[in-house]
Amino acid sequence: MQNQLQEKTKKILIIGKGGREHALAWKFASDDPSVEIFVAEGNAGCELIPNVSNIGLTEIEDLVGFAMQNRIDLTVVGSEELLVKGIVDKFEANNLKIFGPDKQAAMLEGSKAYAKDFMTKYGVKTAKYQNFTDYAEALNYLKQITFPVVIKASGLAAGKGVIIAKDNDEAETALADMLLGMVFGESGSEVVIEEFLEGVEASILSFTDSKVILPLISAKDHKKIGNGETGLNTGGMGVIAPNPYVTDEVYQAFIKDILEPTLNGIKMEKMDFAGVIFFGVMITKNGVYLLEYNMRMGDPETQAVLPLMKNKLFPAINSAIDRNLESVNLEWENGATCCVVIASGGYPEKHHNGYAITGLEKFDLADSYLFAAGVGKKHNDFVTAGGRVLNVVAKGVSLDDARNKAYKAVNSVNFKDMYYRTDIGKIV
Ligand SMILES: Nc1ncnc2c1ncn2[C@@H]1O[C@H](COP(=O)(O)OP(=O)(O)OP(=O)(O)O)[C@@H](O)[C@H]1O
Ligand SMILES: [Mg+2]
Repeated sequence: MQNQLQEKTKKILIIGKGGREHALAWKFASDDPSVEIFVAEGNAGCELIPNVSNIGLTEIEDLVGFAMQNRIDLTVVGSEELLVKGIVDKFEANNLKIFGPDKQAAMLEGSKAYAKDFMTKYGVKTAKYQNFTDYAEALNYLKQITFPVVIKASGLAAGKGVIIAKDNDEAETALADMLLGMVFGESGSEVVIEEFLEGVEASILSFTDSKVILPLISAKDHKKIGNGETGLNTGGMGVIAPNPYVTDEVYQAFIKDILEPTLNGIKMEKMDFAGVIFFGVMITKNGVYLLEYNMRMGDPETQAVLPLMKNKLFPAINSAIDRNLESVNLEWENGATCCVVIASGGYPEKHHNGYAITGLEKFDLADSYLFAAGVGKKHNDFVTAGGRVLNVVAKGVSLDDARNKAYKAVNSVNFKDMYYRTDIGKIV
């Protein structure tokens, strides 16, 4: 009897294996220490949280089976591939609660051509563009435009499918690579050619139940490998929250020119899902433009945003799944976070795996968090197992305070050839 009165232990399944998934697990467990969390496939560092077990499943059918057998209360999907393949539709067909877009809504990320047409149809402010599948037609279009121009593989390309071409030659090469050489496979069989926008970028993640869109606190990521935004593109070398460039004026423009028309489009298209919309925007002198939708939490944005969230995550997500997000009021701590990504020397090109990592178990600093990404285990020791290895996040009363704490915390972990930028959150 007493057992029945007690609240049942919640079981959560998180799908993915990076720092984002570790941060989600951390948030669920710190909100409610009784939860049981499974991460598929997770990384060895996720299991530093006592509530977490990693499971080695990656196929949709296996994940559905696992969620049914283990009576999972909520599944949250980290990465985009399975969303685009329709994991949400499969879970829902089995009466399983899952937070993410169905296959149709996931197209807003899975097809840039579709997303741009959607933006235009509903008046979302975005760069001028045209979509092409035919190489000759694409070349012809180049004659009508000015350079630089942005050429994007329409499908998923793990952040590598965007080329900024400074002249006609570079544009032709990019188009030939994508449309003829199929360097991105099917993902590049359609391309978007779009106007180059100059400005400062912001990541604005939000929750939606298709009836309302609730923005989370804004973030600013740092994509280049080198200090001062130099060198090759990466999956993200660091992030801060909130984004100092998102002033009240910028935010109001975002709501009016991007969020509201997007919500209208979702309603008009009769989309019906509960999940994340991540707006990648460019703040320019002519206003705020939408560069892209991602239909899942960002990595590393999640790692910087969640430590500032006052609400508990499980009830907020459940309200979205019940299509009652309107009842949720998201609240944020004052101050800021700074997340420094620690990579393996050589990343994003060649890097070595298998170096011993020290400092993970005893990482225990006030207002600092350690999220593991490319971390494995060898004979009970943590070892590097990917390009981006660790995320060190710190919370401060100001951005400067958060930066100082984050860089101090970086010193408490170590592995051979570790590399990180020293200017994350430095506003120039
Ligand atoms: N129209 C544009 N003008 C200037 N820069 C752009 C434009 N579109 C994209 N970019 C740059 O290219 C980056 C990647 O573009 P986009 O976000 O569309 O692609 P993505 O591969 O889906 O990125 P992500 O991996 O962040 O999801 C942007 O963050 C921005 O820096
Ligand atoms: Mg994207």
